[in-house]
Amino acid sequence: MKQRGGSEEAKRNAGERAAEFVDDGDVVGLGTGSTAAHAIRALGRRVDAGLDVEGVPTSFQSRELAREAGVPLTTLDDVGNVDVAIDGADQFARESGALVKGGGAAHAREKIVDASATRFVVVADPSKAADELDHAVPVEVLPSARRPVAAAVEALDGEATLRSAERKDGPVVTDNGNLVLDCAFGSIADPGALATDLSTTAGVVEHGLFVELADEVLVGTDEGVERRR
Ligand code: 5RP
Repeated sequence: MKQRGGSEEAKRNAGERAAEFVDDGDVVGLGTGSTAAHAIRALGRRVDAGLDVEGVPTSFQSRELAREAGVPLTTLDDVGNVDVAIDGADQFARESGALVKGGGAAHAREKIVDASATRFVVVADPSKAADELDHAVPVEVLPSARRPVAAAVEALDGEATLRSAERKDGPVVTDNGNLVLDCAFGSIADPGALATDLSTTAGVVEHGLFVELADEVLVGTDEGVERRR
């Protein structure tokens, strides 16, 4: 998996610590990305050692990894909610814990699973911390709504760029068959207000602002883990 931001060691420390929060009998939300992947592998090792859990994957990628790691799977449709969700972030606000997610284009399913969790644990490395969010916000749109949503983003003083696939010509297509606009707004002084504006734009399936959802943020370093919230 491609490494972005902090060191692999920092990501491993955060992911592995979060996996320790899972108790016998829990249903676990399995996040997407390189940091959450460490949690899924660690969970797999705990399952090998006898832990009884079920995982709800947030993407094709996390489902495949969970299968490989031996984590039994279920769906939100079957269980309704999860006990603990462990997921990464592209950026987190130090004070409020507001997040930008969706670097892996999985934020729609991630938000459904993370929002249903009794305890949502974010795993990150220090490169993701910010005083004020300023990362571009991924916005998943219905393919037919790409242009109107881009215009609505401009009206909000943002700039929307269609995400394109790295290894082939054409756009990134999400697990839900939609497109992603990466929307740069500069510094986001009021993430809650922007989240509402994006959510109420016709054609938006889901955006990557996660406001007031994270219960804790575990920040891995090369030496260990710090709890930031
Ligand atoms: C995927 C996500 C990821 O959690 C986010 O991109 C962080 O990934 P990584 O841990 O690889 O830095 O939101 O949609």
